[in-house]
Amino acid sequence: MTQTLFTNISQLVTPAPGAQRGEAMNDVRVVPDAALLVADGVIRWVGPRAEAPDAETAQDLGGVAVVPGLIDPHTHAVWAGDRLADFEARISGVPYEDILARGGGIRSSMRATAAASVEELVTLARPRLAALRASGATTAEVKSGYGMDFDAEIRMLRAVRALQAEFQLVPTLLIHVPPTGGRAEYVRAVCHDLIPAVAREGLAAAVDVFTEREAFTVEETRVILRAAQGHGLQAKLHADQFHAIGGTELACELGALSVDHLEASGPAQIAALAASDTVATILPGVTLHLGLPAAPGRALIDAGAAVAVGTDLNPGSSPVFSTQLALAFAVRLCRLTPAEALTACTVNAAAALGLADRGALAPGQRADFLTLRGADWRDLPYTLGASPVRSVYVAGRAL
Ligand code: NIG
Ligand code: FE
Repeated sequence: MTQTLFTNISQLVTPAPGAQRGEAMNDVRVVPDAALLVADGVIRWVGPRAEAPDAETAQDLGGVAVVPGLIDPHTHAVWAGDRLADFEARISGVPYEDILARGGGIRSSMRATAAASVEELVTLARPRLAALRASGATTAEVKSGYGMDFDAEIRMLRAVRALQAEFQLVPTLLIHVPPTGGRAEYVRAVCHDLIPAVAREGLAAAVDVFTEREAFTVEETRVILRAAQGHGLQAKLHADQFHAIGGTELACELGALSVDHLEASGPAQIAALAASDTVATILPGVTLHLGLPAAPGRALIDAGAAVAVGTDLNPGSSPVFSTQLALAFAVRLCRLTPAEALTACTVNAAAALGLADRGALAPGQRADFLTLRGADWRDLPYTLGASPVRSVYVAGRAL
């Protein structure tokens, strides 16, 4: 067993392990002049340097702050083509939903992705995931959802599987938009063919559905997610992005791991989330890029919900290639405190993926952590557009 004691840490800052809800999200522990003991990729001890146990080797981290590796619980990092024309149209006033209704938007990314091989998808996604990791994300979720047909969905998930050799990724099957005709048949085939095939091959840990006027109804979502749960997969939803049509209430009823977006959530949805174990994942990059209202992050925490933050990295609604920037936006746009934002991007993001072994600097957790460039950890929520992250450590090793 090789042990390393990391020393000369100006501040070690961490939430407690496990999902934190309500006021507890603000309770981060700050240990000044700290040390961190790691053995076999796992944290064994954390505390003041003066009390540190002996270890075989020591590594001086140079007097900077250390925080847990960030976890990005919501990305669409695999896609082909671009959405630059959509972007220009939206900036001149055409709404996102209108572009989608006319066969553009998500559907244009589906056409481009359908034409790409697994190898091409891997080549396109690799630098995006490298950018997320350089920004501090030691684990990221990646969704499918740009498949025109089931083969293309499976190709996207195979691309994620190939990239798992280089990155810590959690794959999700996303049922994104229905075909223009034959949607009942499509939902049946998703439940009877696609979900069983994905479960059999272990290609995804969860199934996500976009529940929205321009996508799937609440009833269609319920059928799909029940099929997912019947095959041992977790449930997730994109809901309340434009209209609160009942997706959040369904997520809570089904015991979904998370419900994501929530820009259109009101008091009823906030109360439902506060009374459930479903994580409320907010995506402030979408607020900035689409000019949508911000999700009610402050109200969700005040009501007692567990809130996570992600980039939603995708070509249409959030070309945000930095998990640290998503954290920083959550503070400005959704009124989280810096400590709440750290909790949202670490242990709560882990909970949104069903993971309990990471996100906190505490004995028994994976030794995934970041050294910052400065001595005060608040550079992490403060800095916009330059990286406050100096080095990324995965299982105790600098990348
Ligand atoms: O999370 N709204 C649904 N899906 C994605 C956007 C996908 C796209 O525009 O390509 C989202 O915002
Ligand atoms: Fe999304």
